[in-house]
Amino acid sequence: MPTHDDVDGFLTDTLIGDDPVLDAALAAQHEAGLPAIEVSPVSAKFLHLLVRISGARRVLEIGTLGGYSTIWLARALPDGGRVVTIEAEEHNAGVARENLERAGVADLVDIRVGRGLDVLPSLVGEEPFDLVFVDADKESNPGYLDWAARLGRPGTVVVLDNVVRGGAVADPPPGDTKVAGARAGVVMLAEDPRFDATALQTLDRKGWDGLALAVVTDVVASGIPDDRP
Ligand code: DHB
Ligand code: MG
Repeated sequence: MPTHDDVDGFLTDTLIGDDPVLDAALAAQHEAGLPAIEVSPVSAKFLHLLVRISGARRVLEIGTLGGYSTIWLARALPDGGRVVTIEAEEHNAGVARENLERAGVADLVDIRVGRGLDVLPSLVGEEPFDLVFVDADKESNPGYLDWAARLGRPGTVVVLDNVVRGGAVADPPPGDTKVAGARAGVVMLAEDPRFDATALQTLDRKGWDGLALAVVTDVVASGIPDDRP
């Protein structure tokens, strides 16, 4: 009886195949002691395709880690596109910088070092982002989604990682702040009129988890006062 790992292996081998640059990025990340919590290859390619399908030119990533997903996002950009990625840990950002250099995409990416909620206000006034990938500390998910709406525009694509957490989102264990944050993010996507959203469960080499996908609605049409700076 095949397992979900067998299926993940088949899908990854078949649809993605070998990519020495990505393998090197993961090896460097492992070597540097970063946790192996980057998105799975099939999810990374899903993000990559979302950038291409949406035609996103300005991409915001919250949570760089070692830059694995960042490479996939950068490779999806059209000419003139850019990824801004925010990483709280200077050590991780250093690993990511080297990985992006090796992948030949460093010129397409700005790494901003600092906690997401501290860095995000500094992006006000830049051109709106077309796609936002939220994959940082789960506790801050509602804050990150708020910033995704503020820094986006109607039509901006928002992807939120880790919304299932082994099923715990459906019955949050008391005191688990990550699950609470994941759940609060999903509830916000449902209740906040600035978003229209769904979520898909995933079962891959990282186990049972899920991704929420949202579009930023037209805040004016939704009747919410637009007090964006
Ligand atoms: C964790 C964070 C992630 O972004 C992820 O994809 C898996 C796990 C974590 O902090 O536990
Ligand atoms: Mg994640």
